[in-house]
Amino acid sequence: MSAGRFITLEGIEGAGKSTALAHVAGLLEAAGREVVATREPGGTPLGEALRALLLDHRNGMAHDTELLLMFAARAEHLAQVIRPALAAGRWVVCDRFTDSTYAYQGGGRGVPEARIAALEGWVQGPLRPDLTLLLDVPPETGLARARGGGVGDRFEREDVAFFERVRAAYLRRAEAEPGRFRVIDAARPLEAVHAALAAALAPLLADAGTGDGAA
Ligand SMILES: Nc1ncnc2c1ncn2[C@@H]1O[C@H](COP(=O)(O)OP(=O)(O)O)[C@@H](O)[C@H]1O
Ligand SMILES: [Mg+2]
Repeated sequence: MSAGRFITLEGIEGAGKSTALAHVAGLLEAAGREVVATREPGGTPLGEALRALLLDHRNGMAHDTELLLMFAARAEHLAQVIRPALAAGRWVVCDRFTDSTYAYQGGGRGVPEARIAALEGWVQGPLRPDLTLLLDVPPETGLARARGGGVGDRFEREDVAFFERVRAAYLRRAEAEPGRFRVIDAARPLEAVHAALAAALAPLLADAGTGDGAA
């Protein structure tokens, strides 16, 4: 059995992560991989319940509470979904993962990075994504796409300055780990973004062999 791979999609609200998730899953399936498409916070019944608490704009919470709930949902997701799928040779594609925590709770809220790193080590051990696709857009572009005139969830209601900090934190992480990240200019039309996603996946697909277990 060939080893599974762990691919994460990152970016601010409206960058196009959920749209990209469907496209990436389709490309991988067309290449013969078994795919598990999932998201954070969420991906399990308990995780989705935590997501609802985290996104509900009526819930005020301390920054550490927010951080701990994110990692509580992640611990469950890893135990129930991500680790079993990878162990079975599946390709896991996840809409947001720990880079979101560094970007939002770290860059956006100002939680010290060391606290996030401690939880990352505790909950994940050495597990990190094999590939992280960072969909980069200016906050004005992303928020205009995401809000679509509605009220917005607890994060979408943050101001542009918050998302500038989140975006900057993402870009710093991509610069620090160029081997894992691919930064995709997601302000372009969808066809250009899809082409960039395919190009970013190609080396991983080639490296992982044919996917039929013969490699
Ligand atoms: N490259 C793009 N150009 C224009 N609109 C886009 C693009 N990518 C996504 N969208 C649209 O923007 C909205 C938000 O996209 P979505 O994938 O839900 O973003 P996210 O999951 O990052 O919040 C959707 O209506 C989607 O169709
Ligand atoms: Mg989405």
